[in-house]
Amino acid sequence: MTSYACAVCGHALHSFLDFGRMPLANGFLRAEEFSGEYFFDLEAGLCPSCGLVQLLRQPAREKMFHGEYPFSTSSSSRMAAHFRGLAERLAGELAPGSFVVEIGSNDGTFLETFAKKGFPHLGVEPAAGLNRLAAARGVRTFEGFFDQDTAARIVKEKGRAELVFAANVFCHLPYLNSVFEGLKSLLSENGRIVFEDPYLGNVLENNSYDQIYDEHFFLFSVSAVRKIAASHGFELTDAEPLWTHGGSMRYFLSGSGKRRVSPRALELMEKEKAMGISLPETFEKFRGRCQESKSKLVALLRRLKSEGSRVAGYAATSKAATVLNYCGIGPDLLECVYDTTPSKQGKYSPGAHIPVRPWEEFSKPYPDYALLFAYNHMDEIMTKESGFMKQGGKWIVFVPHVQVLS
Ligand code: TMP
Ligand code: ZN
Repeated sequence: MTSYACAVCGHALHSFLDFGRMPLANGFLRAEEFSGEYFFDLEAGLCPSCGLVQLLRQPAREKMFHGEYPFSTSSSSRMAAHFRGLAERLAGELAPGSFVVEIGSNDGTFLETFAKKGFPHLGVEPAAGLNRLAAARGVRTFEGFFDQDTAARIVKEKGRAELVFAANVFCHLPYLNSVFEGLKSLLSENGRIVFEDPYLGNVLENNSYDQIYDEHFFLFSVSAVRKIAASHGFELTDAEPLWTHGGSMRYFLSGSGKRRVSPRALELMEKEKAMGISLPETFEKFRGRCQESKSKLVALLRRLKSEGSRVAGYAATSKAATVLNYCGIGPDLLECVYDTTPSKQGKYSPGAHIPVRPWEEFSKPYPDYALLFAYNHMDEIMTKESGFMKQGGKWIVFVPHVQVLS
């Protein structure tokens, strides 16, 4: 058996969930591309030393985050509102003229607020298509990945930052040590790092194994972030639970001793300790619950199929790739997935090859059941698609348990 080392501290990893052969979660493709489709072995492990949950292997970053990376923040109005609200709040805490950097600036939704208020700012984003959208909002970007070299370049050209923000980005970066070293040189003495990512505590509580896919290299906990930050001279001063992505955490870091550690952060770490968030046995139990979830979902879809019901998926999320491929759900069990993203429509889902159709066709006519992959946008979708249930349609969810909502 090959042993894998923690990408941050080098300790041997405890593998706890092997998904087998998986495609890229955002590798939507055309039928003529099926034969050349890329696959890799998706396997998750825990570092018993620093507590970081991580992938044992990951495809090259250019395969995942390329020019036409399809995810855009504005695809969900609630997500866009979430980032605008935070930008207002953080801008209110900054002195005028403070330099603000966002790592993974996506379509510029967060930085737009700072741009409009006249703050010097810079987004770092490798996806050219997203940078074009950001530019249209008046947001300046640097096209590339953030690491030590990029940080040095920014400092040389623009100086040090008072605020560095990153949403759903740090969990993508296996070279996290280089990122933190970059942050060390980029951040001004009294500056703050604020970042948010899907939270390991929620994944364990909700059996949301679908948070594990190629792009999500790490699943963070408050305790693990505190350790890594400390090893690079930063202190975790606060942590704020968020509803996004089915449960995320926002982390606040400063230079050591610059701010008081909040009671909330201390409470969260106590809670993590009580749930055994860095113990191998916790993850052995988690694997059991994932296998159970898989059996139940497949059994339900097979039963509905045998009864002659029409079942479709709703929202071709990245997370759906894990569910479909781990559970072995193909077009025989799920006729299609409806989605709002034009670049996914007309293509097939990665690995499972389920056709993606425009969401406007969902009602023409409605299927009998809709498997909701974007359960993290449940409220928004239930409101938008209230006609589905009125016509007798039923939603299927699998987080925290497989169930039919009626
Ligand atoms: P994610 O935020 O969980 O990654 O999901 C993004 C995908 O979900 C994206 O392809 C757009 C799709 N989506 C819909 O199809 N309808 C919706 O109402 C929402 C909110 C998302
Ligand atoms: Zn480690």
